[in-house]
Amino acid sequence: MPWSDKRVLSGDRPSGKLHLGHLVGTLRNRVRLQDQYKWFFVVADLHALTTEYQHTEDLKRNVREVVLDYLSVGIDPDKSTIYVQSLIPEVAEIFVLFSMLATVNRLQRIPTLKDVMRDRHITKPSLGLLSYPVLQAADIVMVRADFVPVGEDQAPHLEVTRELIRRFNRLYGASLPVPDMIPGDVPSLPGTDGQAKMSKSLGNAIYLSDDAETVTHKVFRMYTDSARVHATTPGHVDGNPVFMYHDVFNPDKAEVETMKNAYLAGQIPDVEVKKRLALVLNQVLGPIRESRKRFAAHPGIVDRVLSDGTKAARVEARQTLAMIKEATRLPSLADQ
Ligand code: TRP
Repeated sequence: MPWSDKRVLSGDRPSGKLHLGHLVGTLRNRVRLQDQYKWFFVVADLHALTTEYQHTEDLKRNVREVVLDYLSVGIDPDKSTIYVQSLIPEVAEIFVLFSMLATVNRLQRIPTLKDVMRDRHITKPSLGLLSYPVLQAADIVMVRADFVPVGEDQAPHLEVTRELIRRFNRLYGASLPVPDMIPGDVPSLPGTDGQAKMSKSLGNAIYLSDDAETVTHKVFRMYTDSARVHATTPGHVDGNPVFMYHDVFNPDKAEVETMKNAYLAGQIPDVEVKKRLALVLNQVLGPIRESRKRFAAHPGIVDRVLSDGTKAARVEARQTLAMIKEATRLPSLADQ
């Protein structure tokens, strides 16, 4: 039993497999805190549609991949509710009600919208993409979450959620919880190409399910210090993604310090630092990979997790929607 009745919602879009950025952004937090709260995880397939509506062929498979990733990092389905967003129609209803409280102007100013448009070369956002944060607010309202552990990039969405819930409570005299964010251990993990963010769409990700060889290959091709021509040229450590990864993943801090000093002095080749990093990452990912294989061998487990989770989420959703409709003074069948 959780020692606190506080509810936590986190989730991911099923746009593919999860990567190291997810691991340090939120997954580790989720596993660490799972005994303390009542946890919900949304596999946000409707959110995936905001950009992938033309490519839905992999959606079902990707929903299962996300669940496999959850299970393999240690999220325990007996302690949490893992559900599929589109199977909870109440969320869409909550979304409609909350969309009245969000102005187009406010949504247009959200930095993540601009990032997605830039990265995906979208010049005219759809209504669905614009209202992405309102749909996320509907997820959060649906479970009546007190906390939302998300990566730094999601902070603006949570801010919108908080504003909308406050407005709803004020307007209708309701008392929906205004959720707090639980930030990740690492605000933002850069991609293997040195770009600020690891992301599938940028093609710079190391996946939790990558095999050891793939991880090593990706590490050896990582961007390091472009100004460094030879192993004897003094290199840069700050802003160098290889060292940023060492800082995050290498448990041997003394080794990292020694390598940094040698790098700054031009006494260690890039390939050596990368070789160590590949080892470290494979040590981190090895157990996750093994666990994933075990779960993947029994597809019935994922089926079960999703059907149980979705059933449990639906119960919450009906309660929340009834509460919200009553507060809003929408007619109920009993009035007719
Ligand atoms: N937008 C989140 C992401 O891309 C996924 C998500 C959807 C979510 N609904 C949520 C996260 C509710 C937390 C709470 O990472």
